[in-house]
Amino acid sequence: MKTIDELVGEGVSGKRVFVRADLNVPLDGDTITDDGRIRAAVPTIKKLAESGARVVVASHLGRPKGAPDPQFSLAPVARRLGELLGSQVAFATDTVGDSAKATVGGITDGGVTLLENLRFNAGETSKDDAERGAFADELAALADAYVSDGFGAVHRKHASVYDLPARLPHAAGSLIATEVGVLKKLTEDVERPYAVVLGGAKVSDKLGVIDHLLDKADRLLIGGGMAYTFLKAKGYEVGKSLLQEDQLPAVKGYLERAEELGVEFVLPVDVLAAPEFPDLKTKAPADPTVVAADAIPAELEGLDIGPESRKLYAAKLADAATVFWNGPMGVFEHPDFAEGTKAVAQGLLDSPAFTVVGGGGHGPARRARGVGVKKGGRQENAPGATHEEKEGKKHN
Ligand code: 3PG
Repeated sequence: MKTIDELVGEGVSGKRVFVRADLNVPLDGDTITDDGRIRAAVPTIKKLAESGARVVVASHLGRPKGAPDPQFSLAPVARRLGELLGSQVAFATDTVGDSAKATVGGITDGGVTLLENLRFNAGETSKDDAERGAFADELAALADAYVSDGFGAVHRKHASVYDLPARLPHAAGSLIATEVGVLKKLTEDVERPYAVVLGGAKVSDKLGVIDHLLDKADRLLIGGGMAYTFLKAKGYEVGKSLLQEDQLPAVKGYLERAEELGVEFVLPVDVLAAPEFPDLKTKAPADPTVVAADAIPAELEGLDIGPESRKLYAAKLADAATVFWNGPMGVFEHPDFAEGTKAVAQGLLDSPAFTVVGGGGHGPARRARGVGVKKGGRQENAPGATHEEKEGKKHN
């Protein structure tokens, strides 16, 4: 794919350039609680604007159902983007309607406009090629060139991601170039030991990642709700913990394959458990008990890795040269069950490893929990992203 520098080199002044960004930021009402993704989109937008392009930025936010829904409006994002760019961003209140046409028509050279949430149009996410194609045609009419820079969404077969670039001269933006460089470091020339930390609710969401990484990693550290299916596969009692019975054969297969390959599977040795899933709204104390991971009492549910596991996982990260982390170690939204995830984050900060942190809510999770961001060689939102927090799943 052409780079943005090549596209700019061909001359973009006066041209309408459509930038498909991922501005899917967390919102509390209309307050942006983490603007990391907007910041990440700025270099590409700035480069185009400074080259005289008329920049049409577009993104999804959340998962509206193909129709306008004010809680998912990108209006707050337009304001923040304007602040970060230091110039006003005109906001179109629809995607391809009168407002979009007028706003795009009014951009001057070097100006930036943001369209309303692409998912307010059913054509964006439609499984029907013709419906998606029709929406892509309308988007294409708003631009002369296309830049793909929405790294967190590039895996989606959506109109603005998949169909639109086929209709316009296209290039990859700066964020995509950076992220691809990072992924190369994870798949080619990996520095060893290579540790992979996987958490999150369901093992079924991670099968592809495990499959792909099992013969590349030296050790896999497992936490979160998915750990209980691993513990059960080893023959342990998991009490009321989240268990995916139907995944037991697959998980047993992974454990066997890992043994053949000499890959170490690191499972919790103790867990924090409680009789009930904690109340995430009130955050009322949940009175967790530390129990051995191989004998979780029948009346308890494991909700985070325990103190011995935290030490073990930190030790397994301390001498790693490369780490890929995807998914929290416990129900980190509740303070009683956040320590496991914090310990892994801290373990990464203390380790000299080249680290890639992947997943929809990792950046916000890490920043919200007060874990610092170490500079250099650190990335967020690698593929394999899961969306536990956004989908509001019960368990991490
Ligand atoms: C993300 O948050 O991971 C991306 O923005 C993609 O969002 P989606 O899972 O709703 O497509």
